[in-house]
Amino acid sequence: MGYLWAKTLHILFVIAWMAAVFYLPRILVNIAEAGDVPAVRERLVLMGRRLYGFGHVMFGLALLPGLMLWMHYRIGGGWMHAKFTLVVVLFAYFIHSGIWLKRAARGGQLPGPTALRWYNELPLVLAVPILLLVVGKPF
Ligand code: HEM
Repeated sequence: MGYLWAKTLHILFVIAWMAAVFYLPRILVNIAEAGDVPAVRERLVLMGRRLYGFGHVMFGLALLPGLMLWMHYRIGGGWMHAKFTLVVVLFAYFIHSGIWLKRAARGGQLPGPTALRWYNELPLVLAVPILLLVVGKPF
């Protein structure tokens, strides 16, 4: 795969994964606000599960061209190690959202809607430095 194709596909699948990273916590907010209406809860949990699965596939598809750019085209440096570390933290956040979704599916308690809205801002705090690192390659 050529360099430009690898980068284009990388960015495309990163966009798709980030959509899931940002939207899964929004579904958790909706579950927390649904209270004890089982039909609403079940539908939201189903939407969440599908989004979570989609996110895993998109992450895998973003990772492959990303590793190719790093290892094959040898675009990297200190910034790339910093970026990768933050990506690992972002992935851990995504898994954590999935753990909360599974807890909700079992009928367990979630944090309140306001706390979940703050939780939803965390990926932004990670995405901004990731983008600054990859666009600016500062070190
Ligand atoms: C999954 C692990 C990842 C790896 C191994 C990886 C690796 C890379 C590499 C080596 C480049 C090439 C830079 C260049 O050609 O200039 C790149 C580009 C890029 N990556 Fe990633 N990346 C990963 C995840 C992410 C994530 C999660 C994001 C966003 C949140 C992201 C956003 C971008 C963007 C926007 C570019 C294009 C930057 C530019 O052309 O200026 N990547 N990535």
